[in-house]
Amino acid sequence: MIRSSPEPQRCSDRECESSEPQNRQPLTRRSGQQNKQAAQSNTAMVRLRSTLVSEQLMPPVSTERIRLMTENDLADAFELSALAGWNQTREDWRMLLELAPAGCFAIEVDRLVAATTTLLCHGARLAWIGMVLTKPQYRHRGLARRLLGHALDQADALGIETVKLDATEQGQPLYEKFGFGAEQPVERWFRPGTSDSVNAGPLSQSLETCLDTGRALDMEAFGADRSSMLRKLGARSTCRSVSKSYLLTRPGRQSEYLGPCVCGDPSTARALIAERIRTGASAGWSWDLLPENRDAVAIATELGFTEQRRLLRMVRGKDLRGRQELSYAIAGFELG
Ligand SMILES: CC(C)(COP(=O)(O)OP(=O)(O)OC[C@H]1O[C@@H](n2cnc3c(N)ncnc32)[C@H](O)[C@@H]1OP(=O)(O)O)[C@@H](O)C(=O)NCCC(=O)NCCS
Repeated sequence: MIRSSPEPQRCSDRECESSEPQNRQPLTRRSGQQNKQAAQSNTAMVRLRSTLVSEQLMPPVSTERIRLMTENDLADAFELSALAGWNQTREDWRMLLELAPAGCFAIEVDRLVAATTTLLCHGARLAWIGMVLTKPQYRHRGLARRLLGHALDQADALGIETVKLDATEQGQPLYEKFGFGAEQPVERWFRPGTSDSVNAGPLSQSLETCLDTGRALDMEAFGADRSSMLRKLGARSTCRSVSKSYLLTRPGRQSEYLGPCVCGDPSTARALIAERIRTGASAGWSWDLLPENRDAVAIATELGFTEQRRLLRMVRGKDLRGRQELSYAIAGFELG
């Protein structure tokens, strides 16, 4: 069994509760003078806390609960990712919830979603951590640490050998504390929308055509069976396939999202992607790729994309890599 969290998690699968420990005072015998001093210092602390709370410099004293997310959390969850500037839509959140109803966790503070983390299993050997988010006013008090620990405990309980994620710079130190190590960089590339995009009519092929042909190559490229996710993703994506290669694209909050794309050779990848971006995305295109696939970088550059940000793919547990020379676009930082 892999050791998951720096502190043991005592939460049950469904729910755990804890209150902030810092306000607890030890019960000891005190003199009258000591009591007076303690009362004065308590009054001063209460005044300071209420000033900080009223000036929104500190969250109010609260009870914090880890629990599974539900449909009712979609609006809060979407607000959280939008606040971080991320491109995921409410539909992306809904899909995660449908795919991993027992793996989407939130911490509530004062009955509001303050932090989230998702654990999505791809088959029995690999799971993906995503949507690690804490509302700015609740950061640096251990919420992400608790949620991540909880999610990893669940992965361990399921016997998952490998857990991966795509880490922002902010998230990396947290993951390192849980034993995640670097695998490879992953990059967000972006192409602004153009006014000369043409409407080439319905581009999408049927999901069955795309995934039936693409499934075997996808497993080779990804290193695990992610067909459940691809089916869900495909149902809300534009699908294109040629031979065993395929490309999916879907709407994002700020820009159209290009990926996943798995192809047997660079010229097929270039043709699929070039054809897709010719058509209507006035808000532009976001494309996340593994730069170790030099052909993907060359195609992105040639098609007018530029690198926007760099994350680090991290892994915990058994090394598990697909053939990334076949992967031209990942499915999403939160999906793999
Ligand atoms: C990254 C992110 C999720 C961290 O959330 P968080 O809830 O603040 O994280 P935690 O509090 O659990 O831990 C973060 C830091 O706070 C410290 N901390 C933990 N408990 C604390 C407490 N009670 N008081 C003060 N600091 C505390 C941790 O030690 C850690 O510090 P360090 O990494 O500098 O050593 C948050 O900054 C965020 O939402 N960022 C934007 C989205 C993003 O980049 N997410 C990561 C995706 S990969």
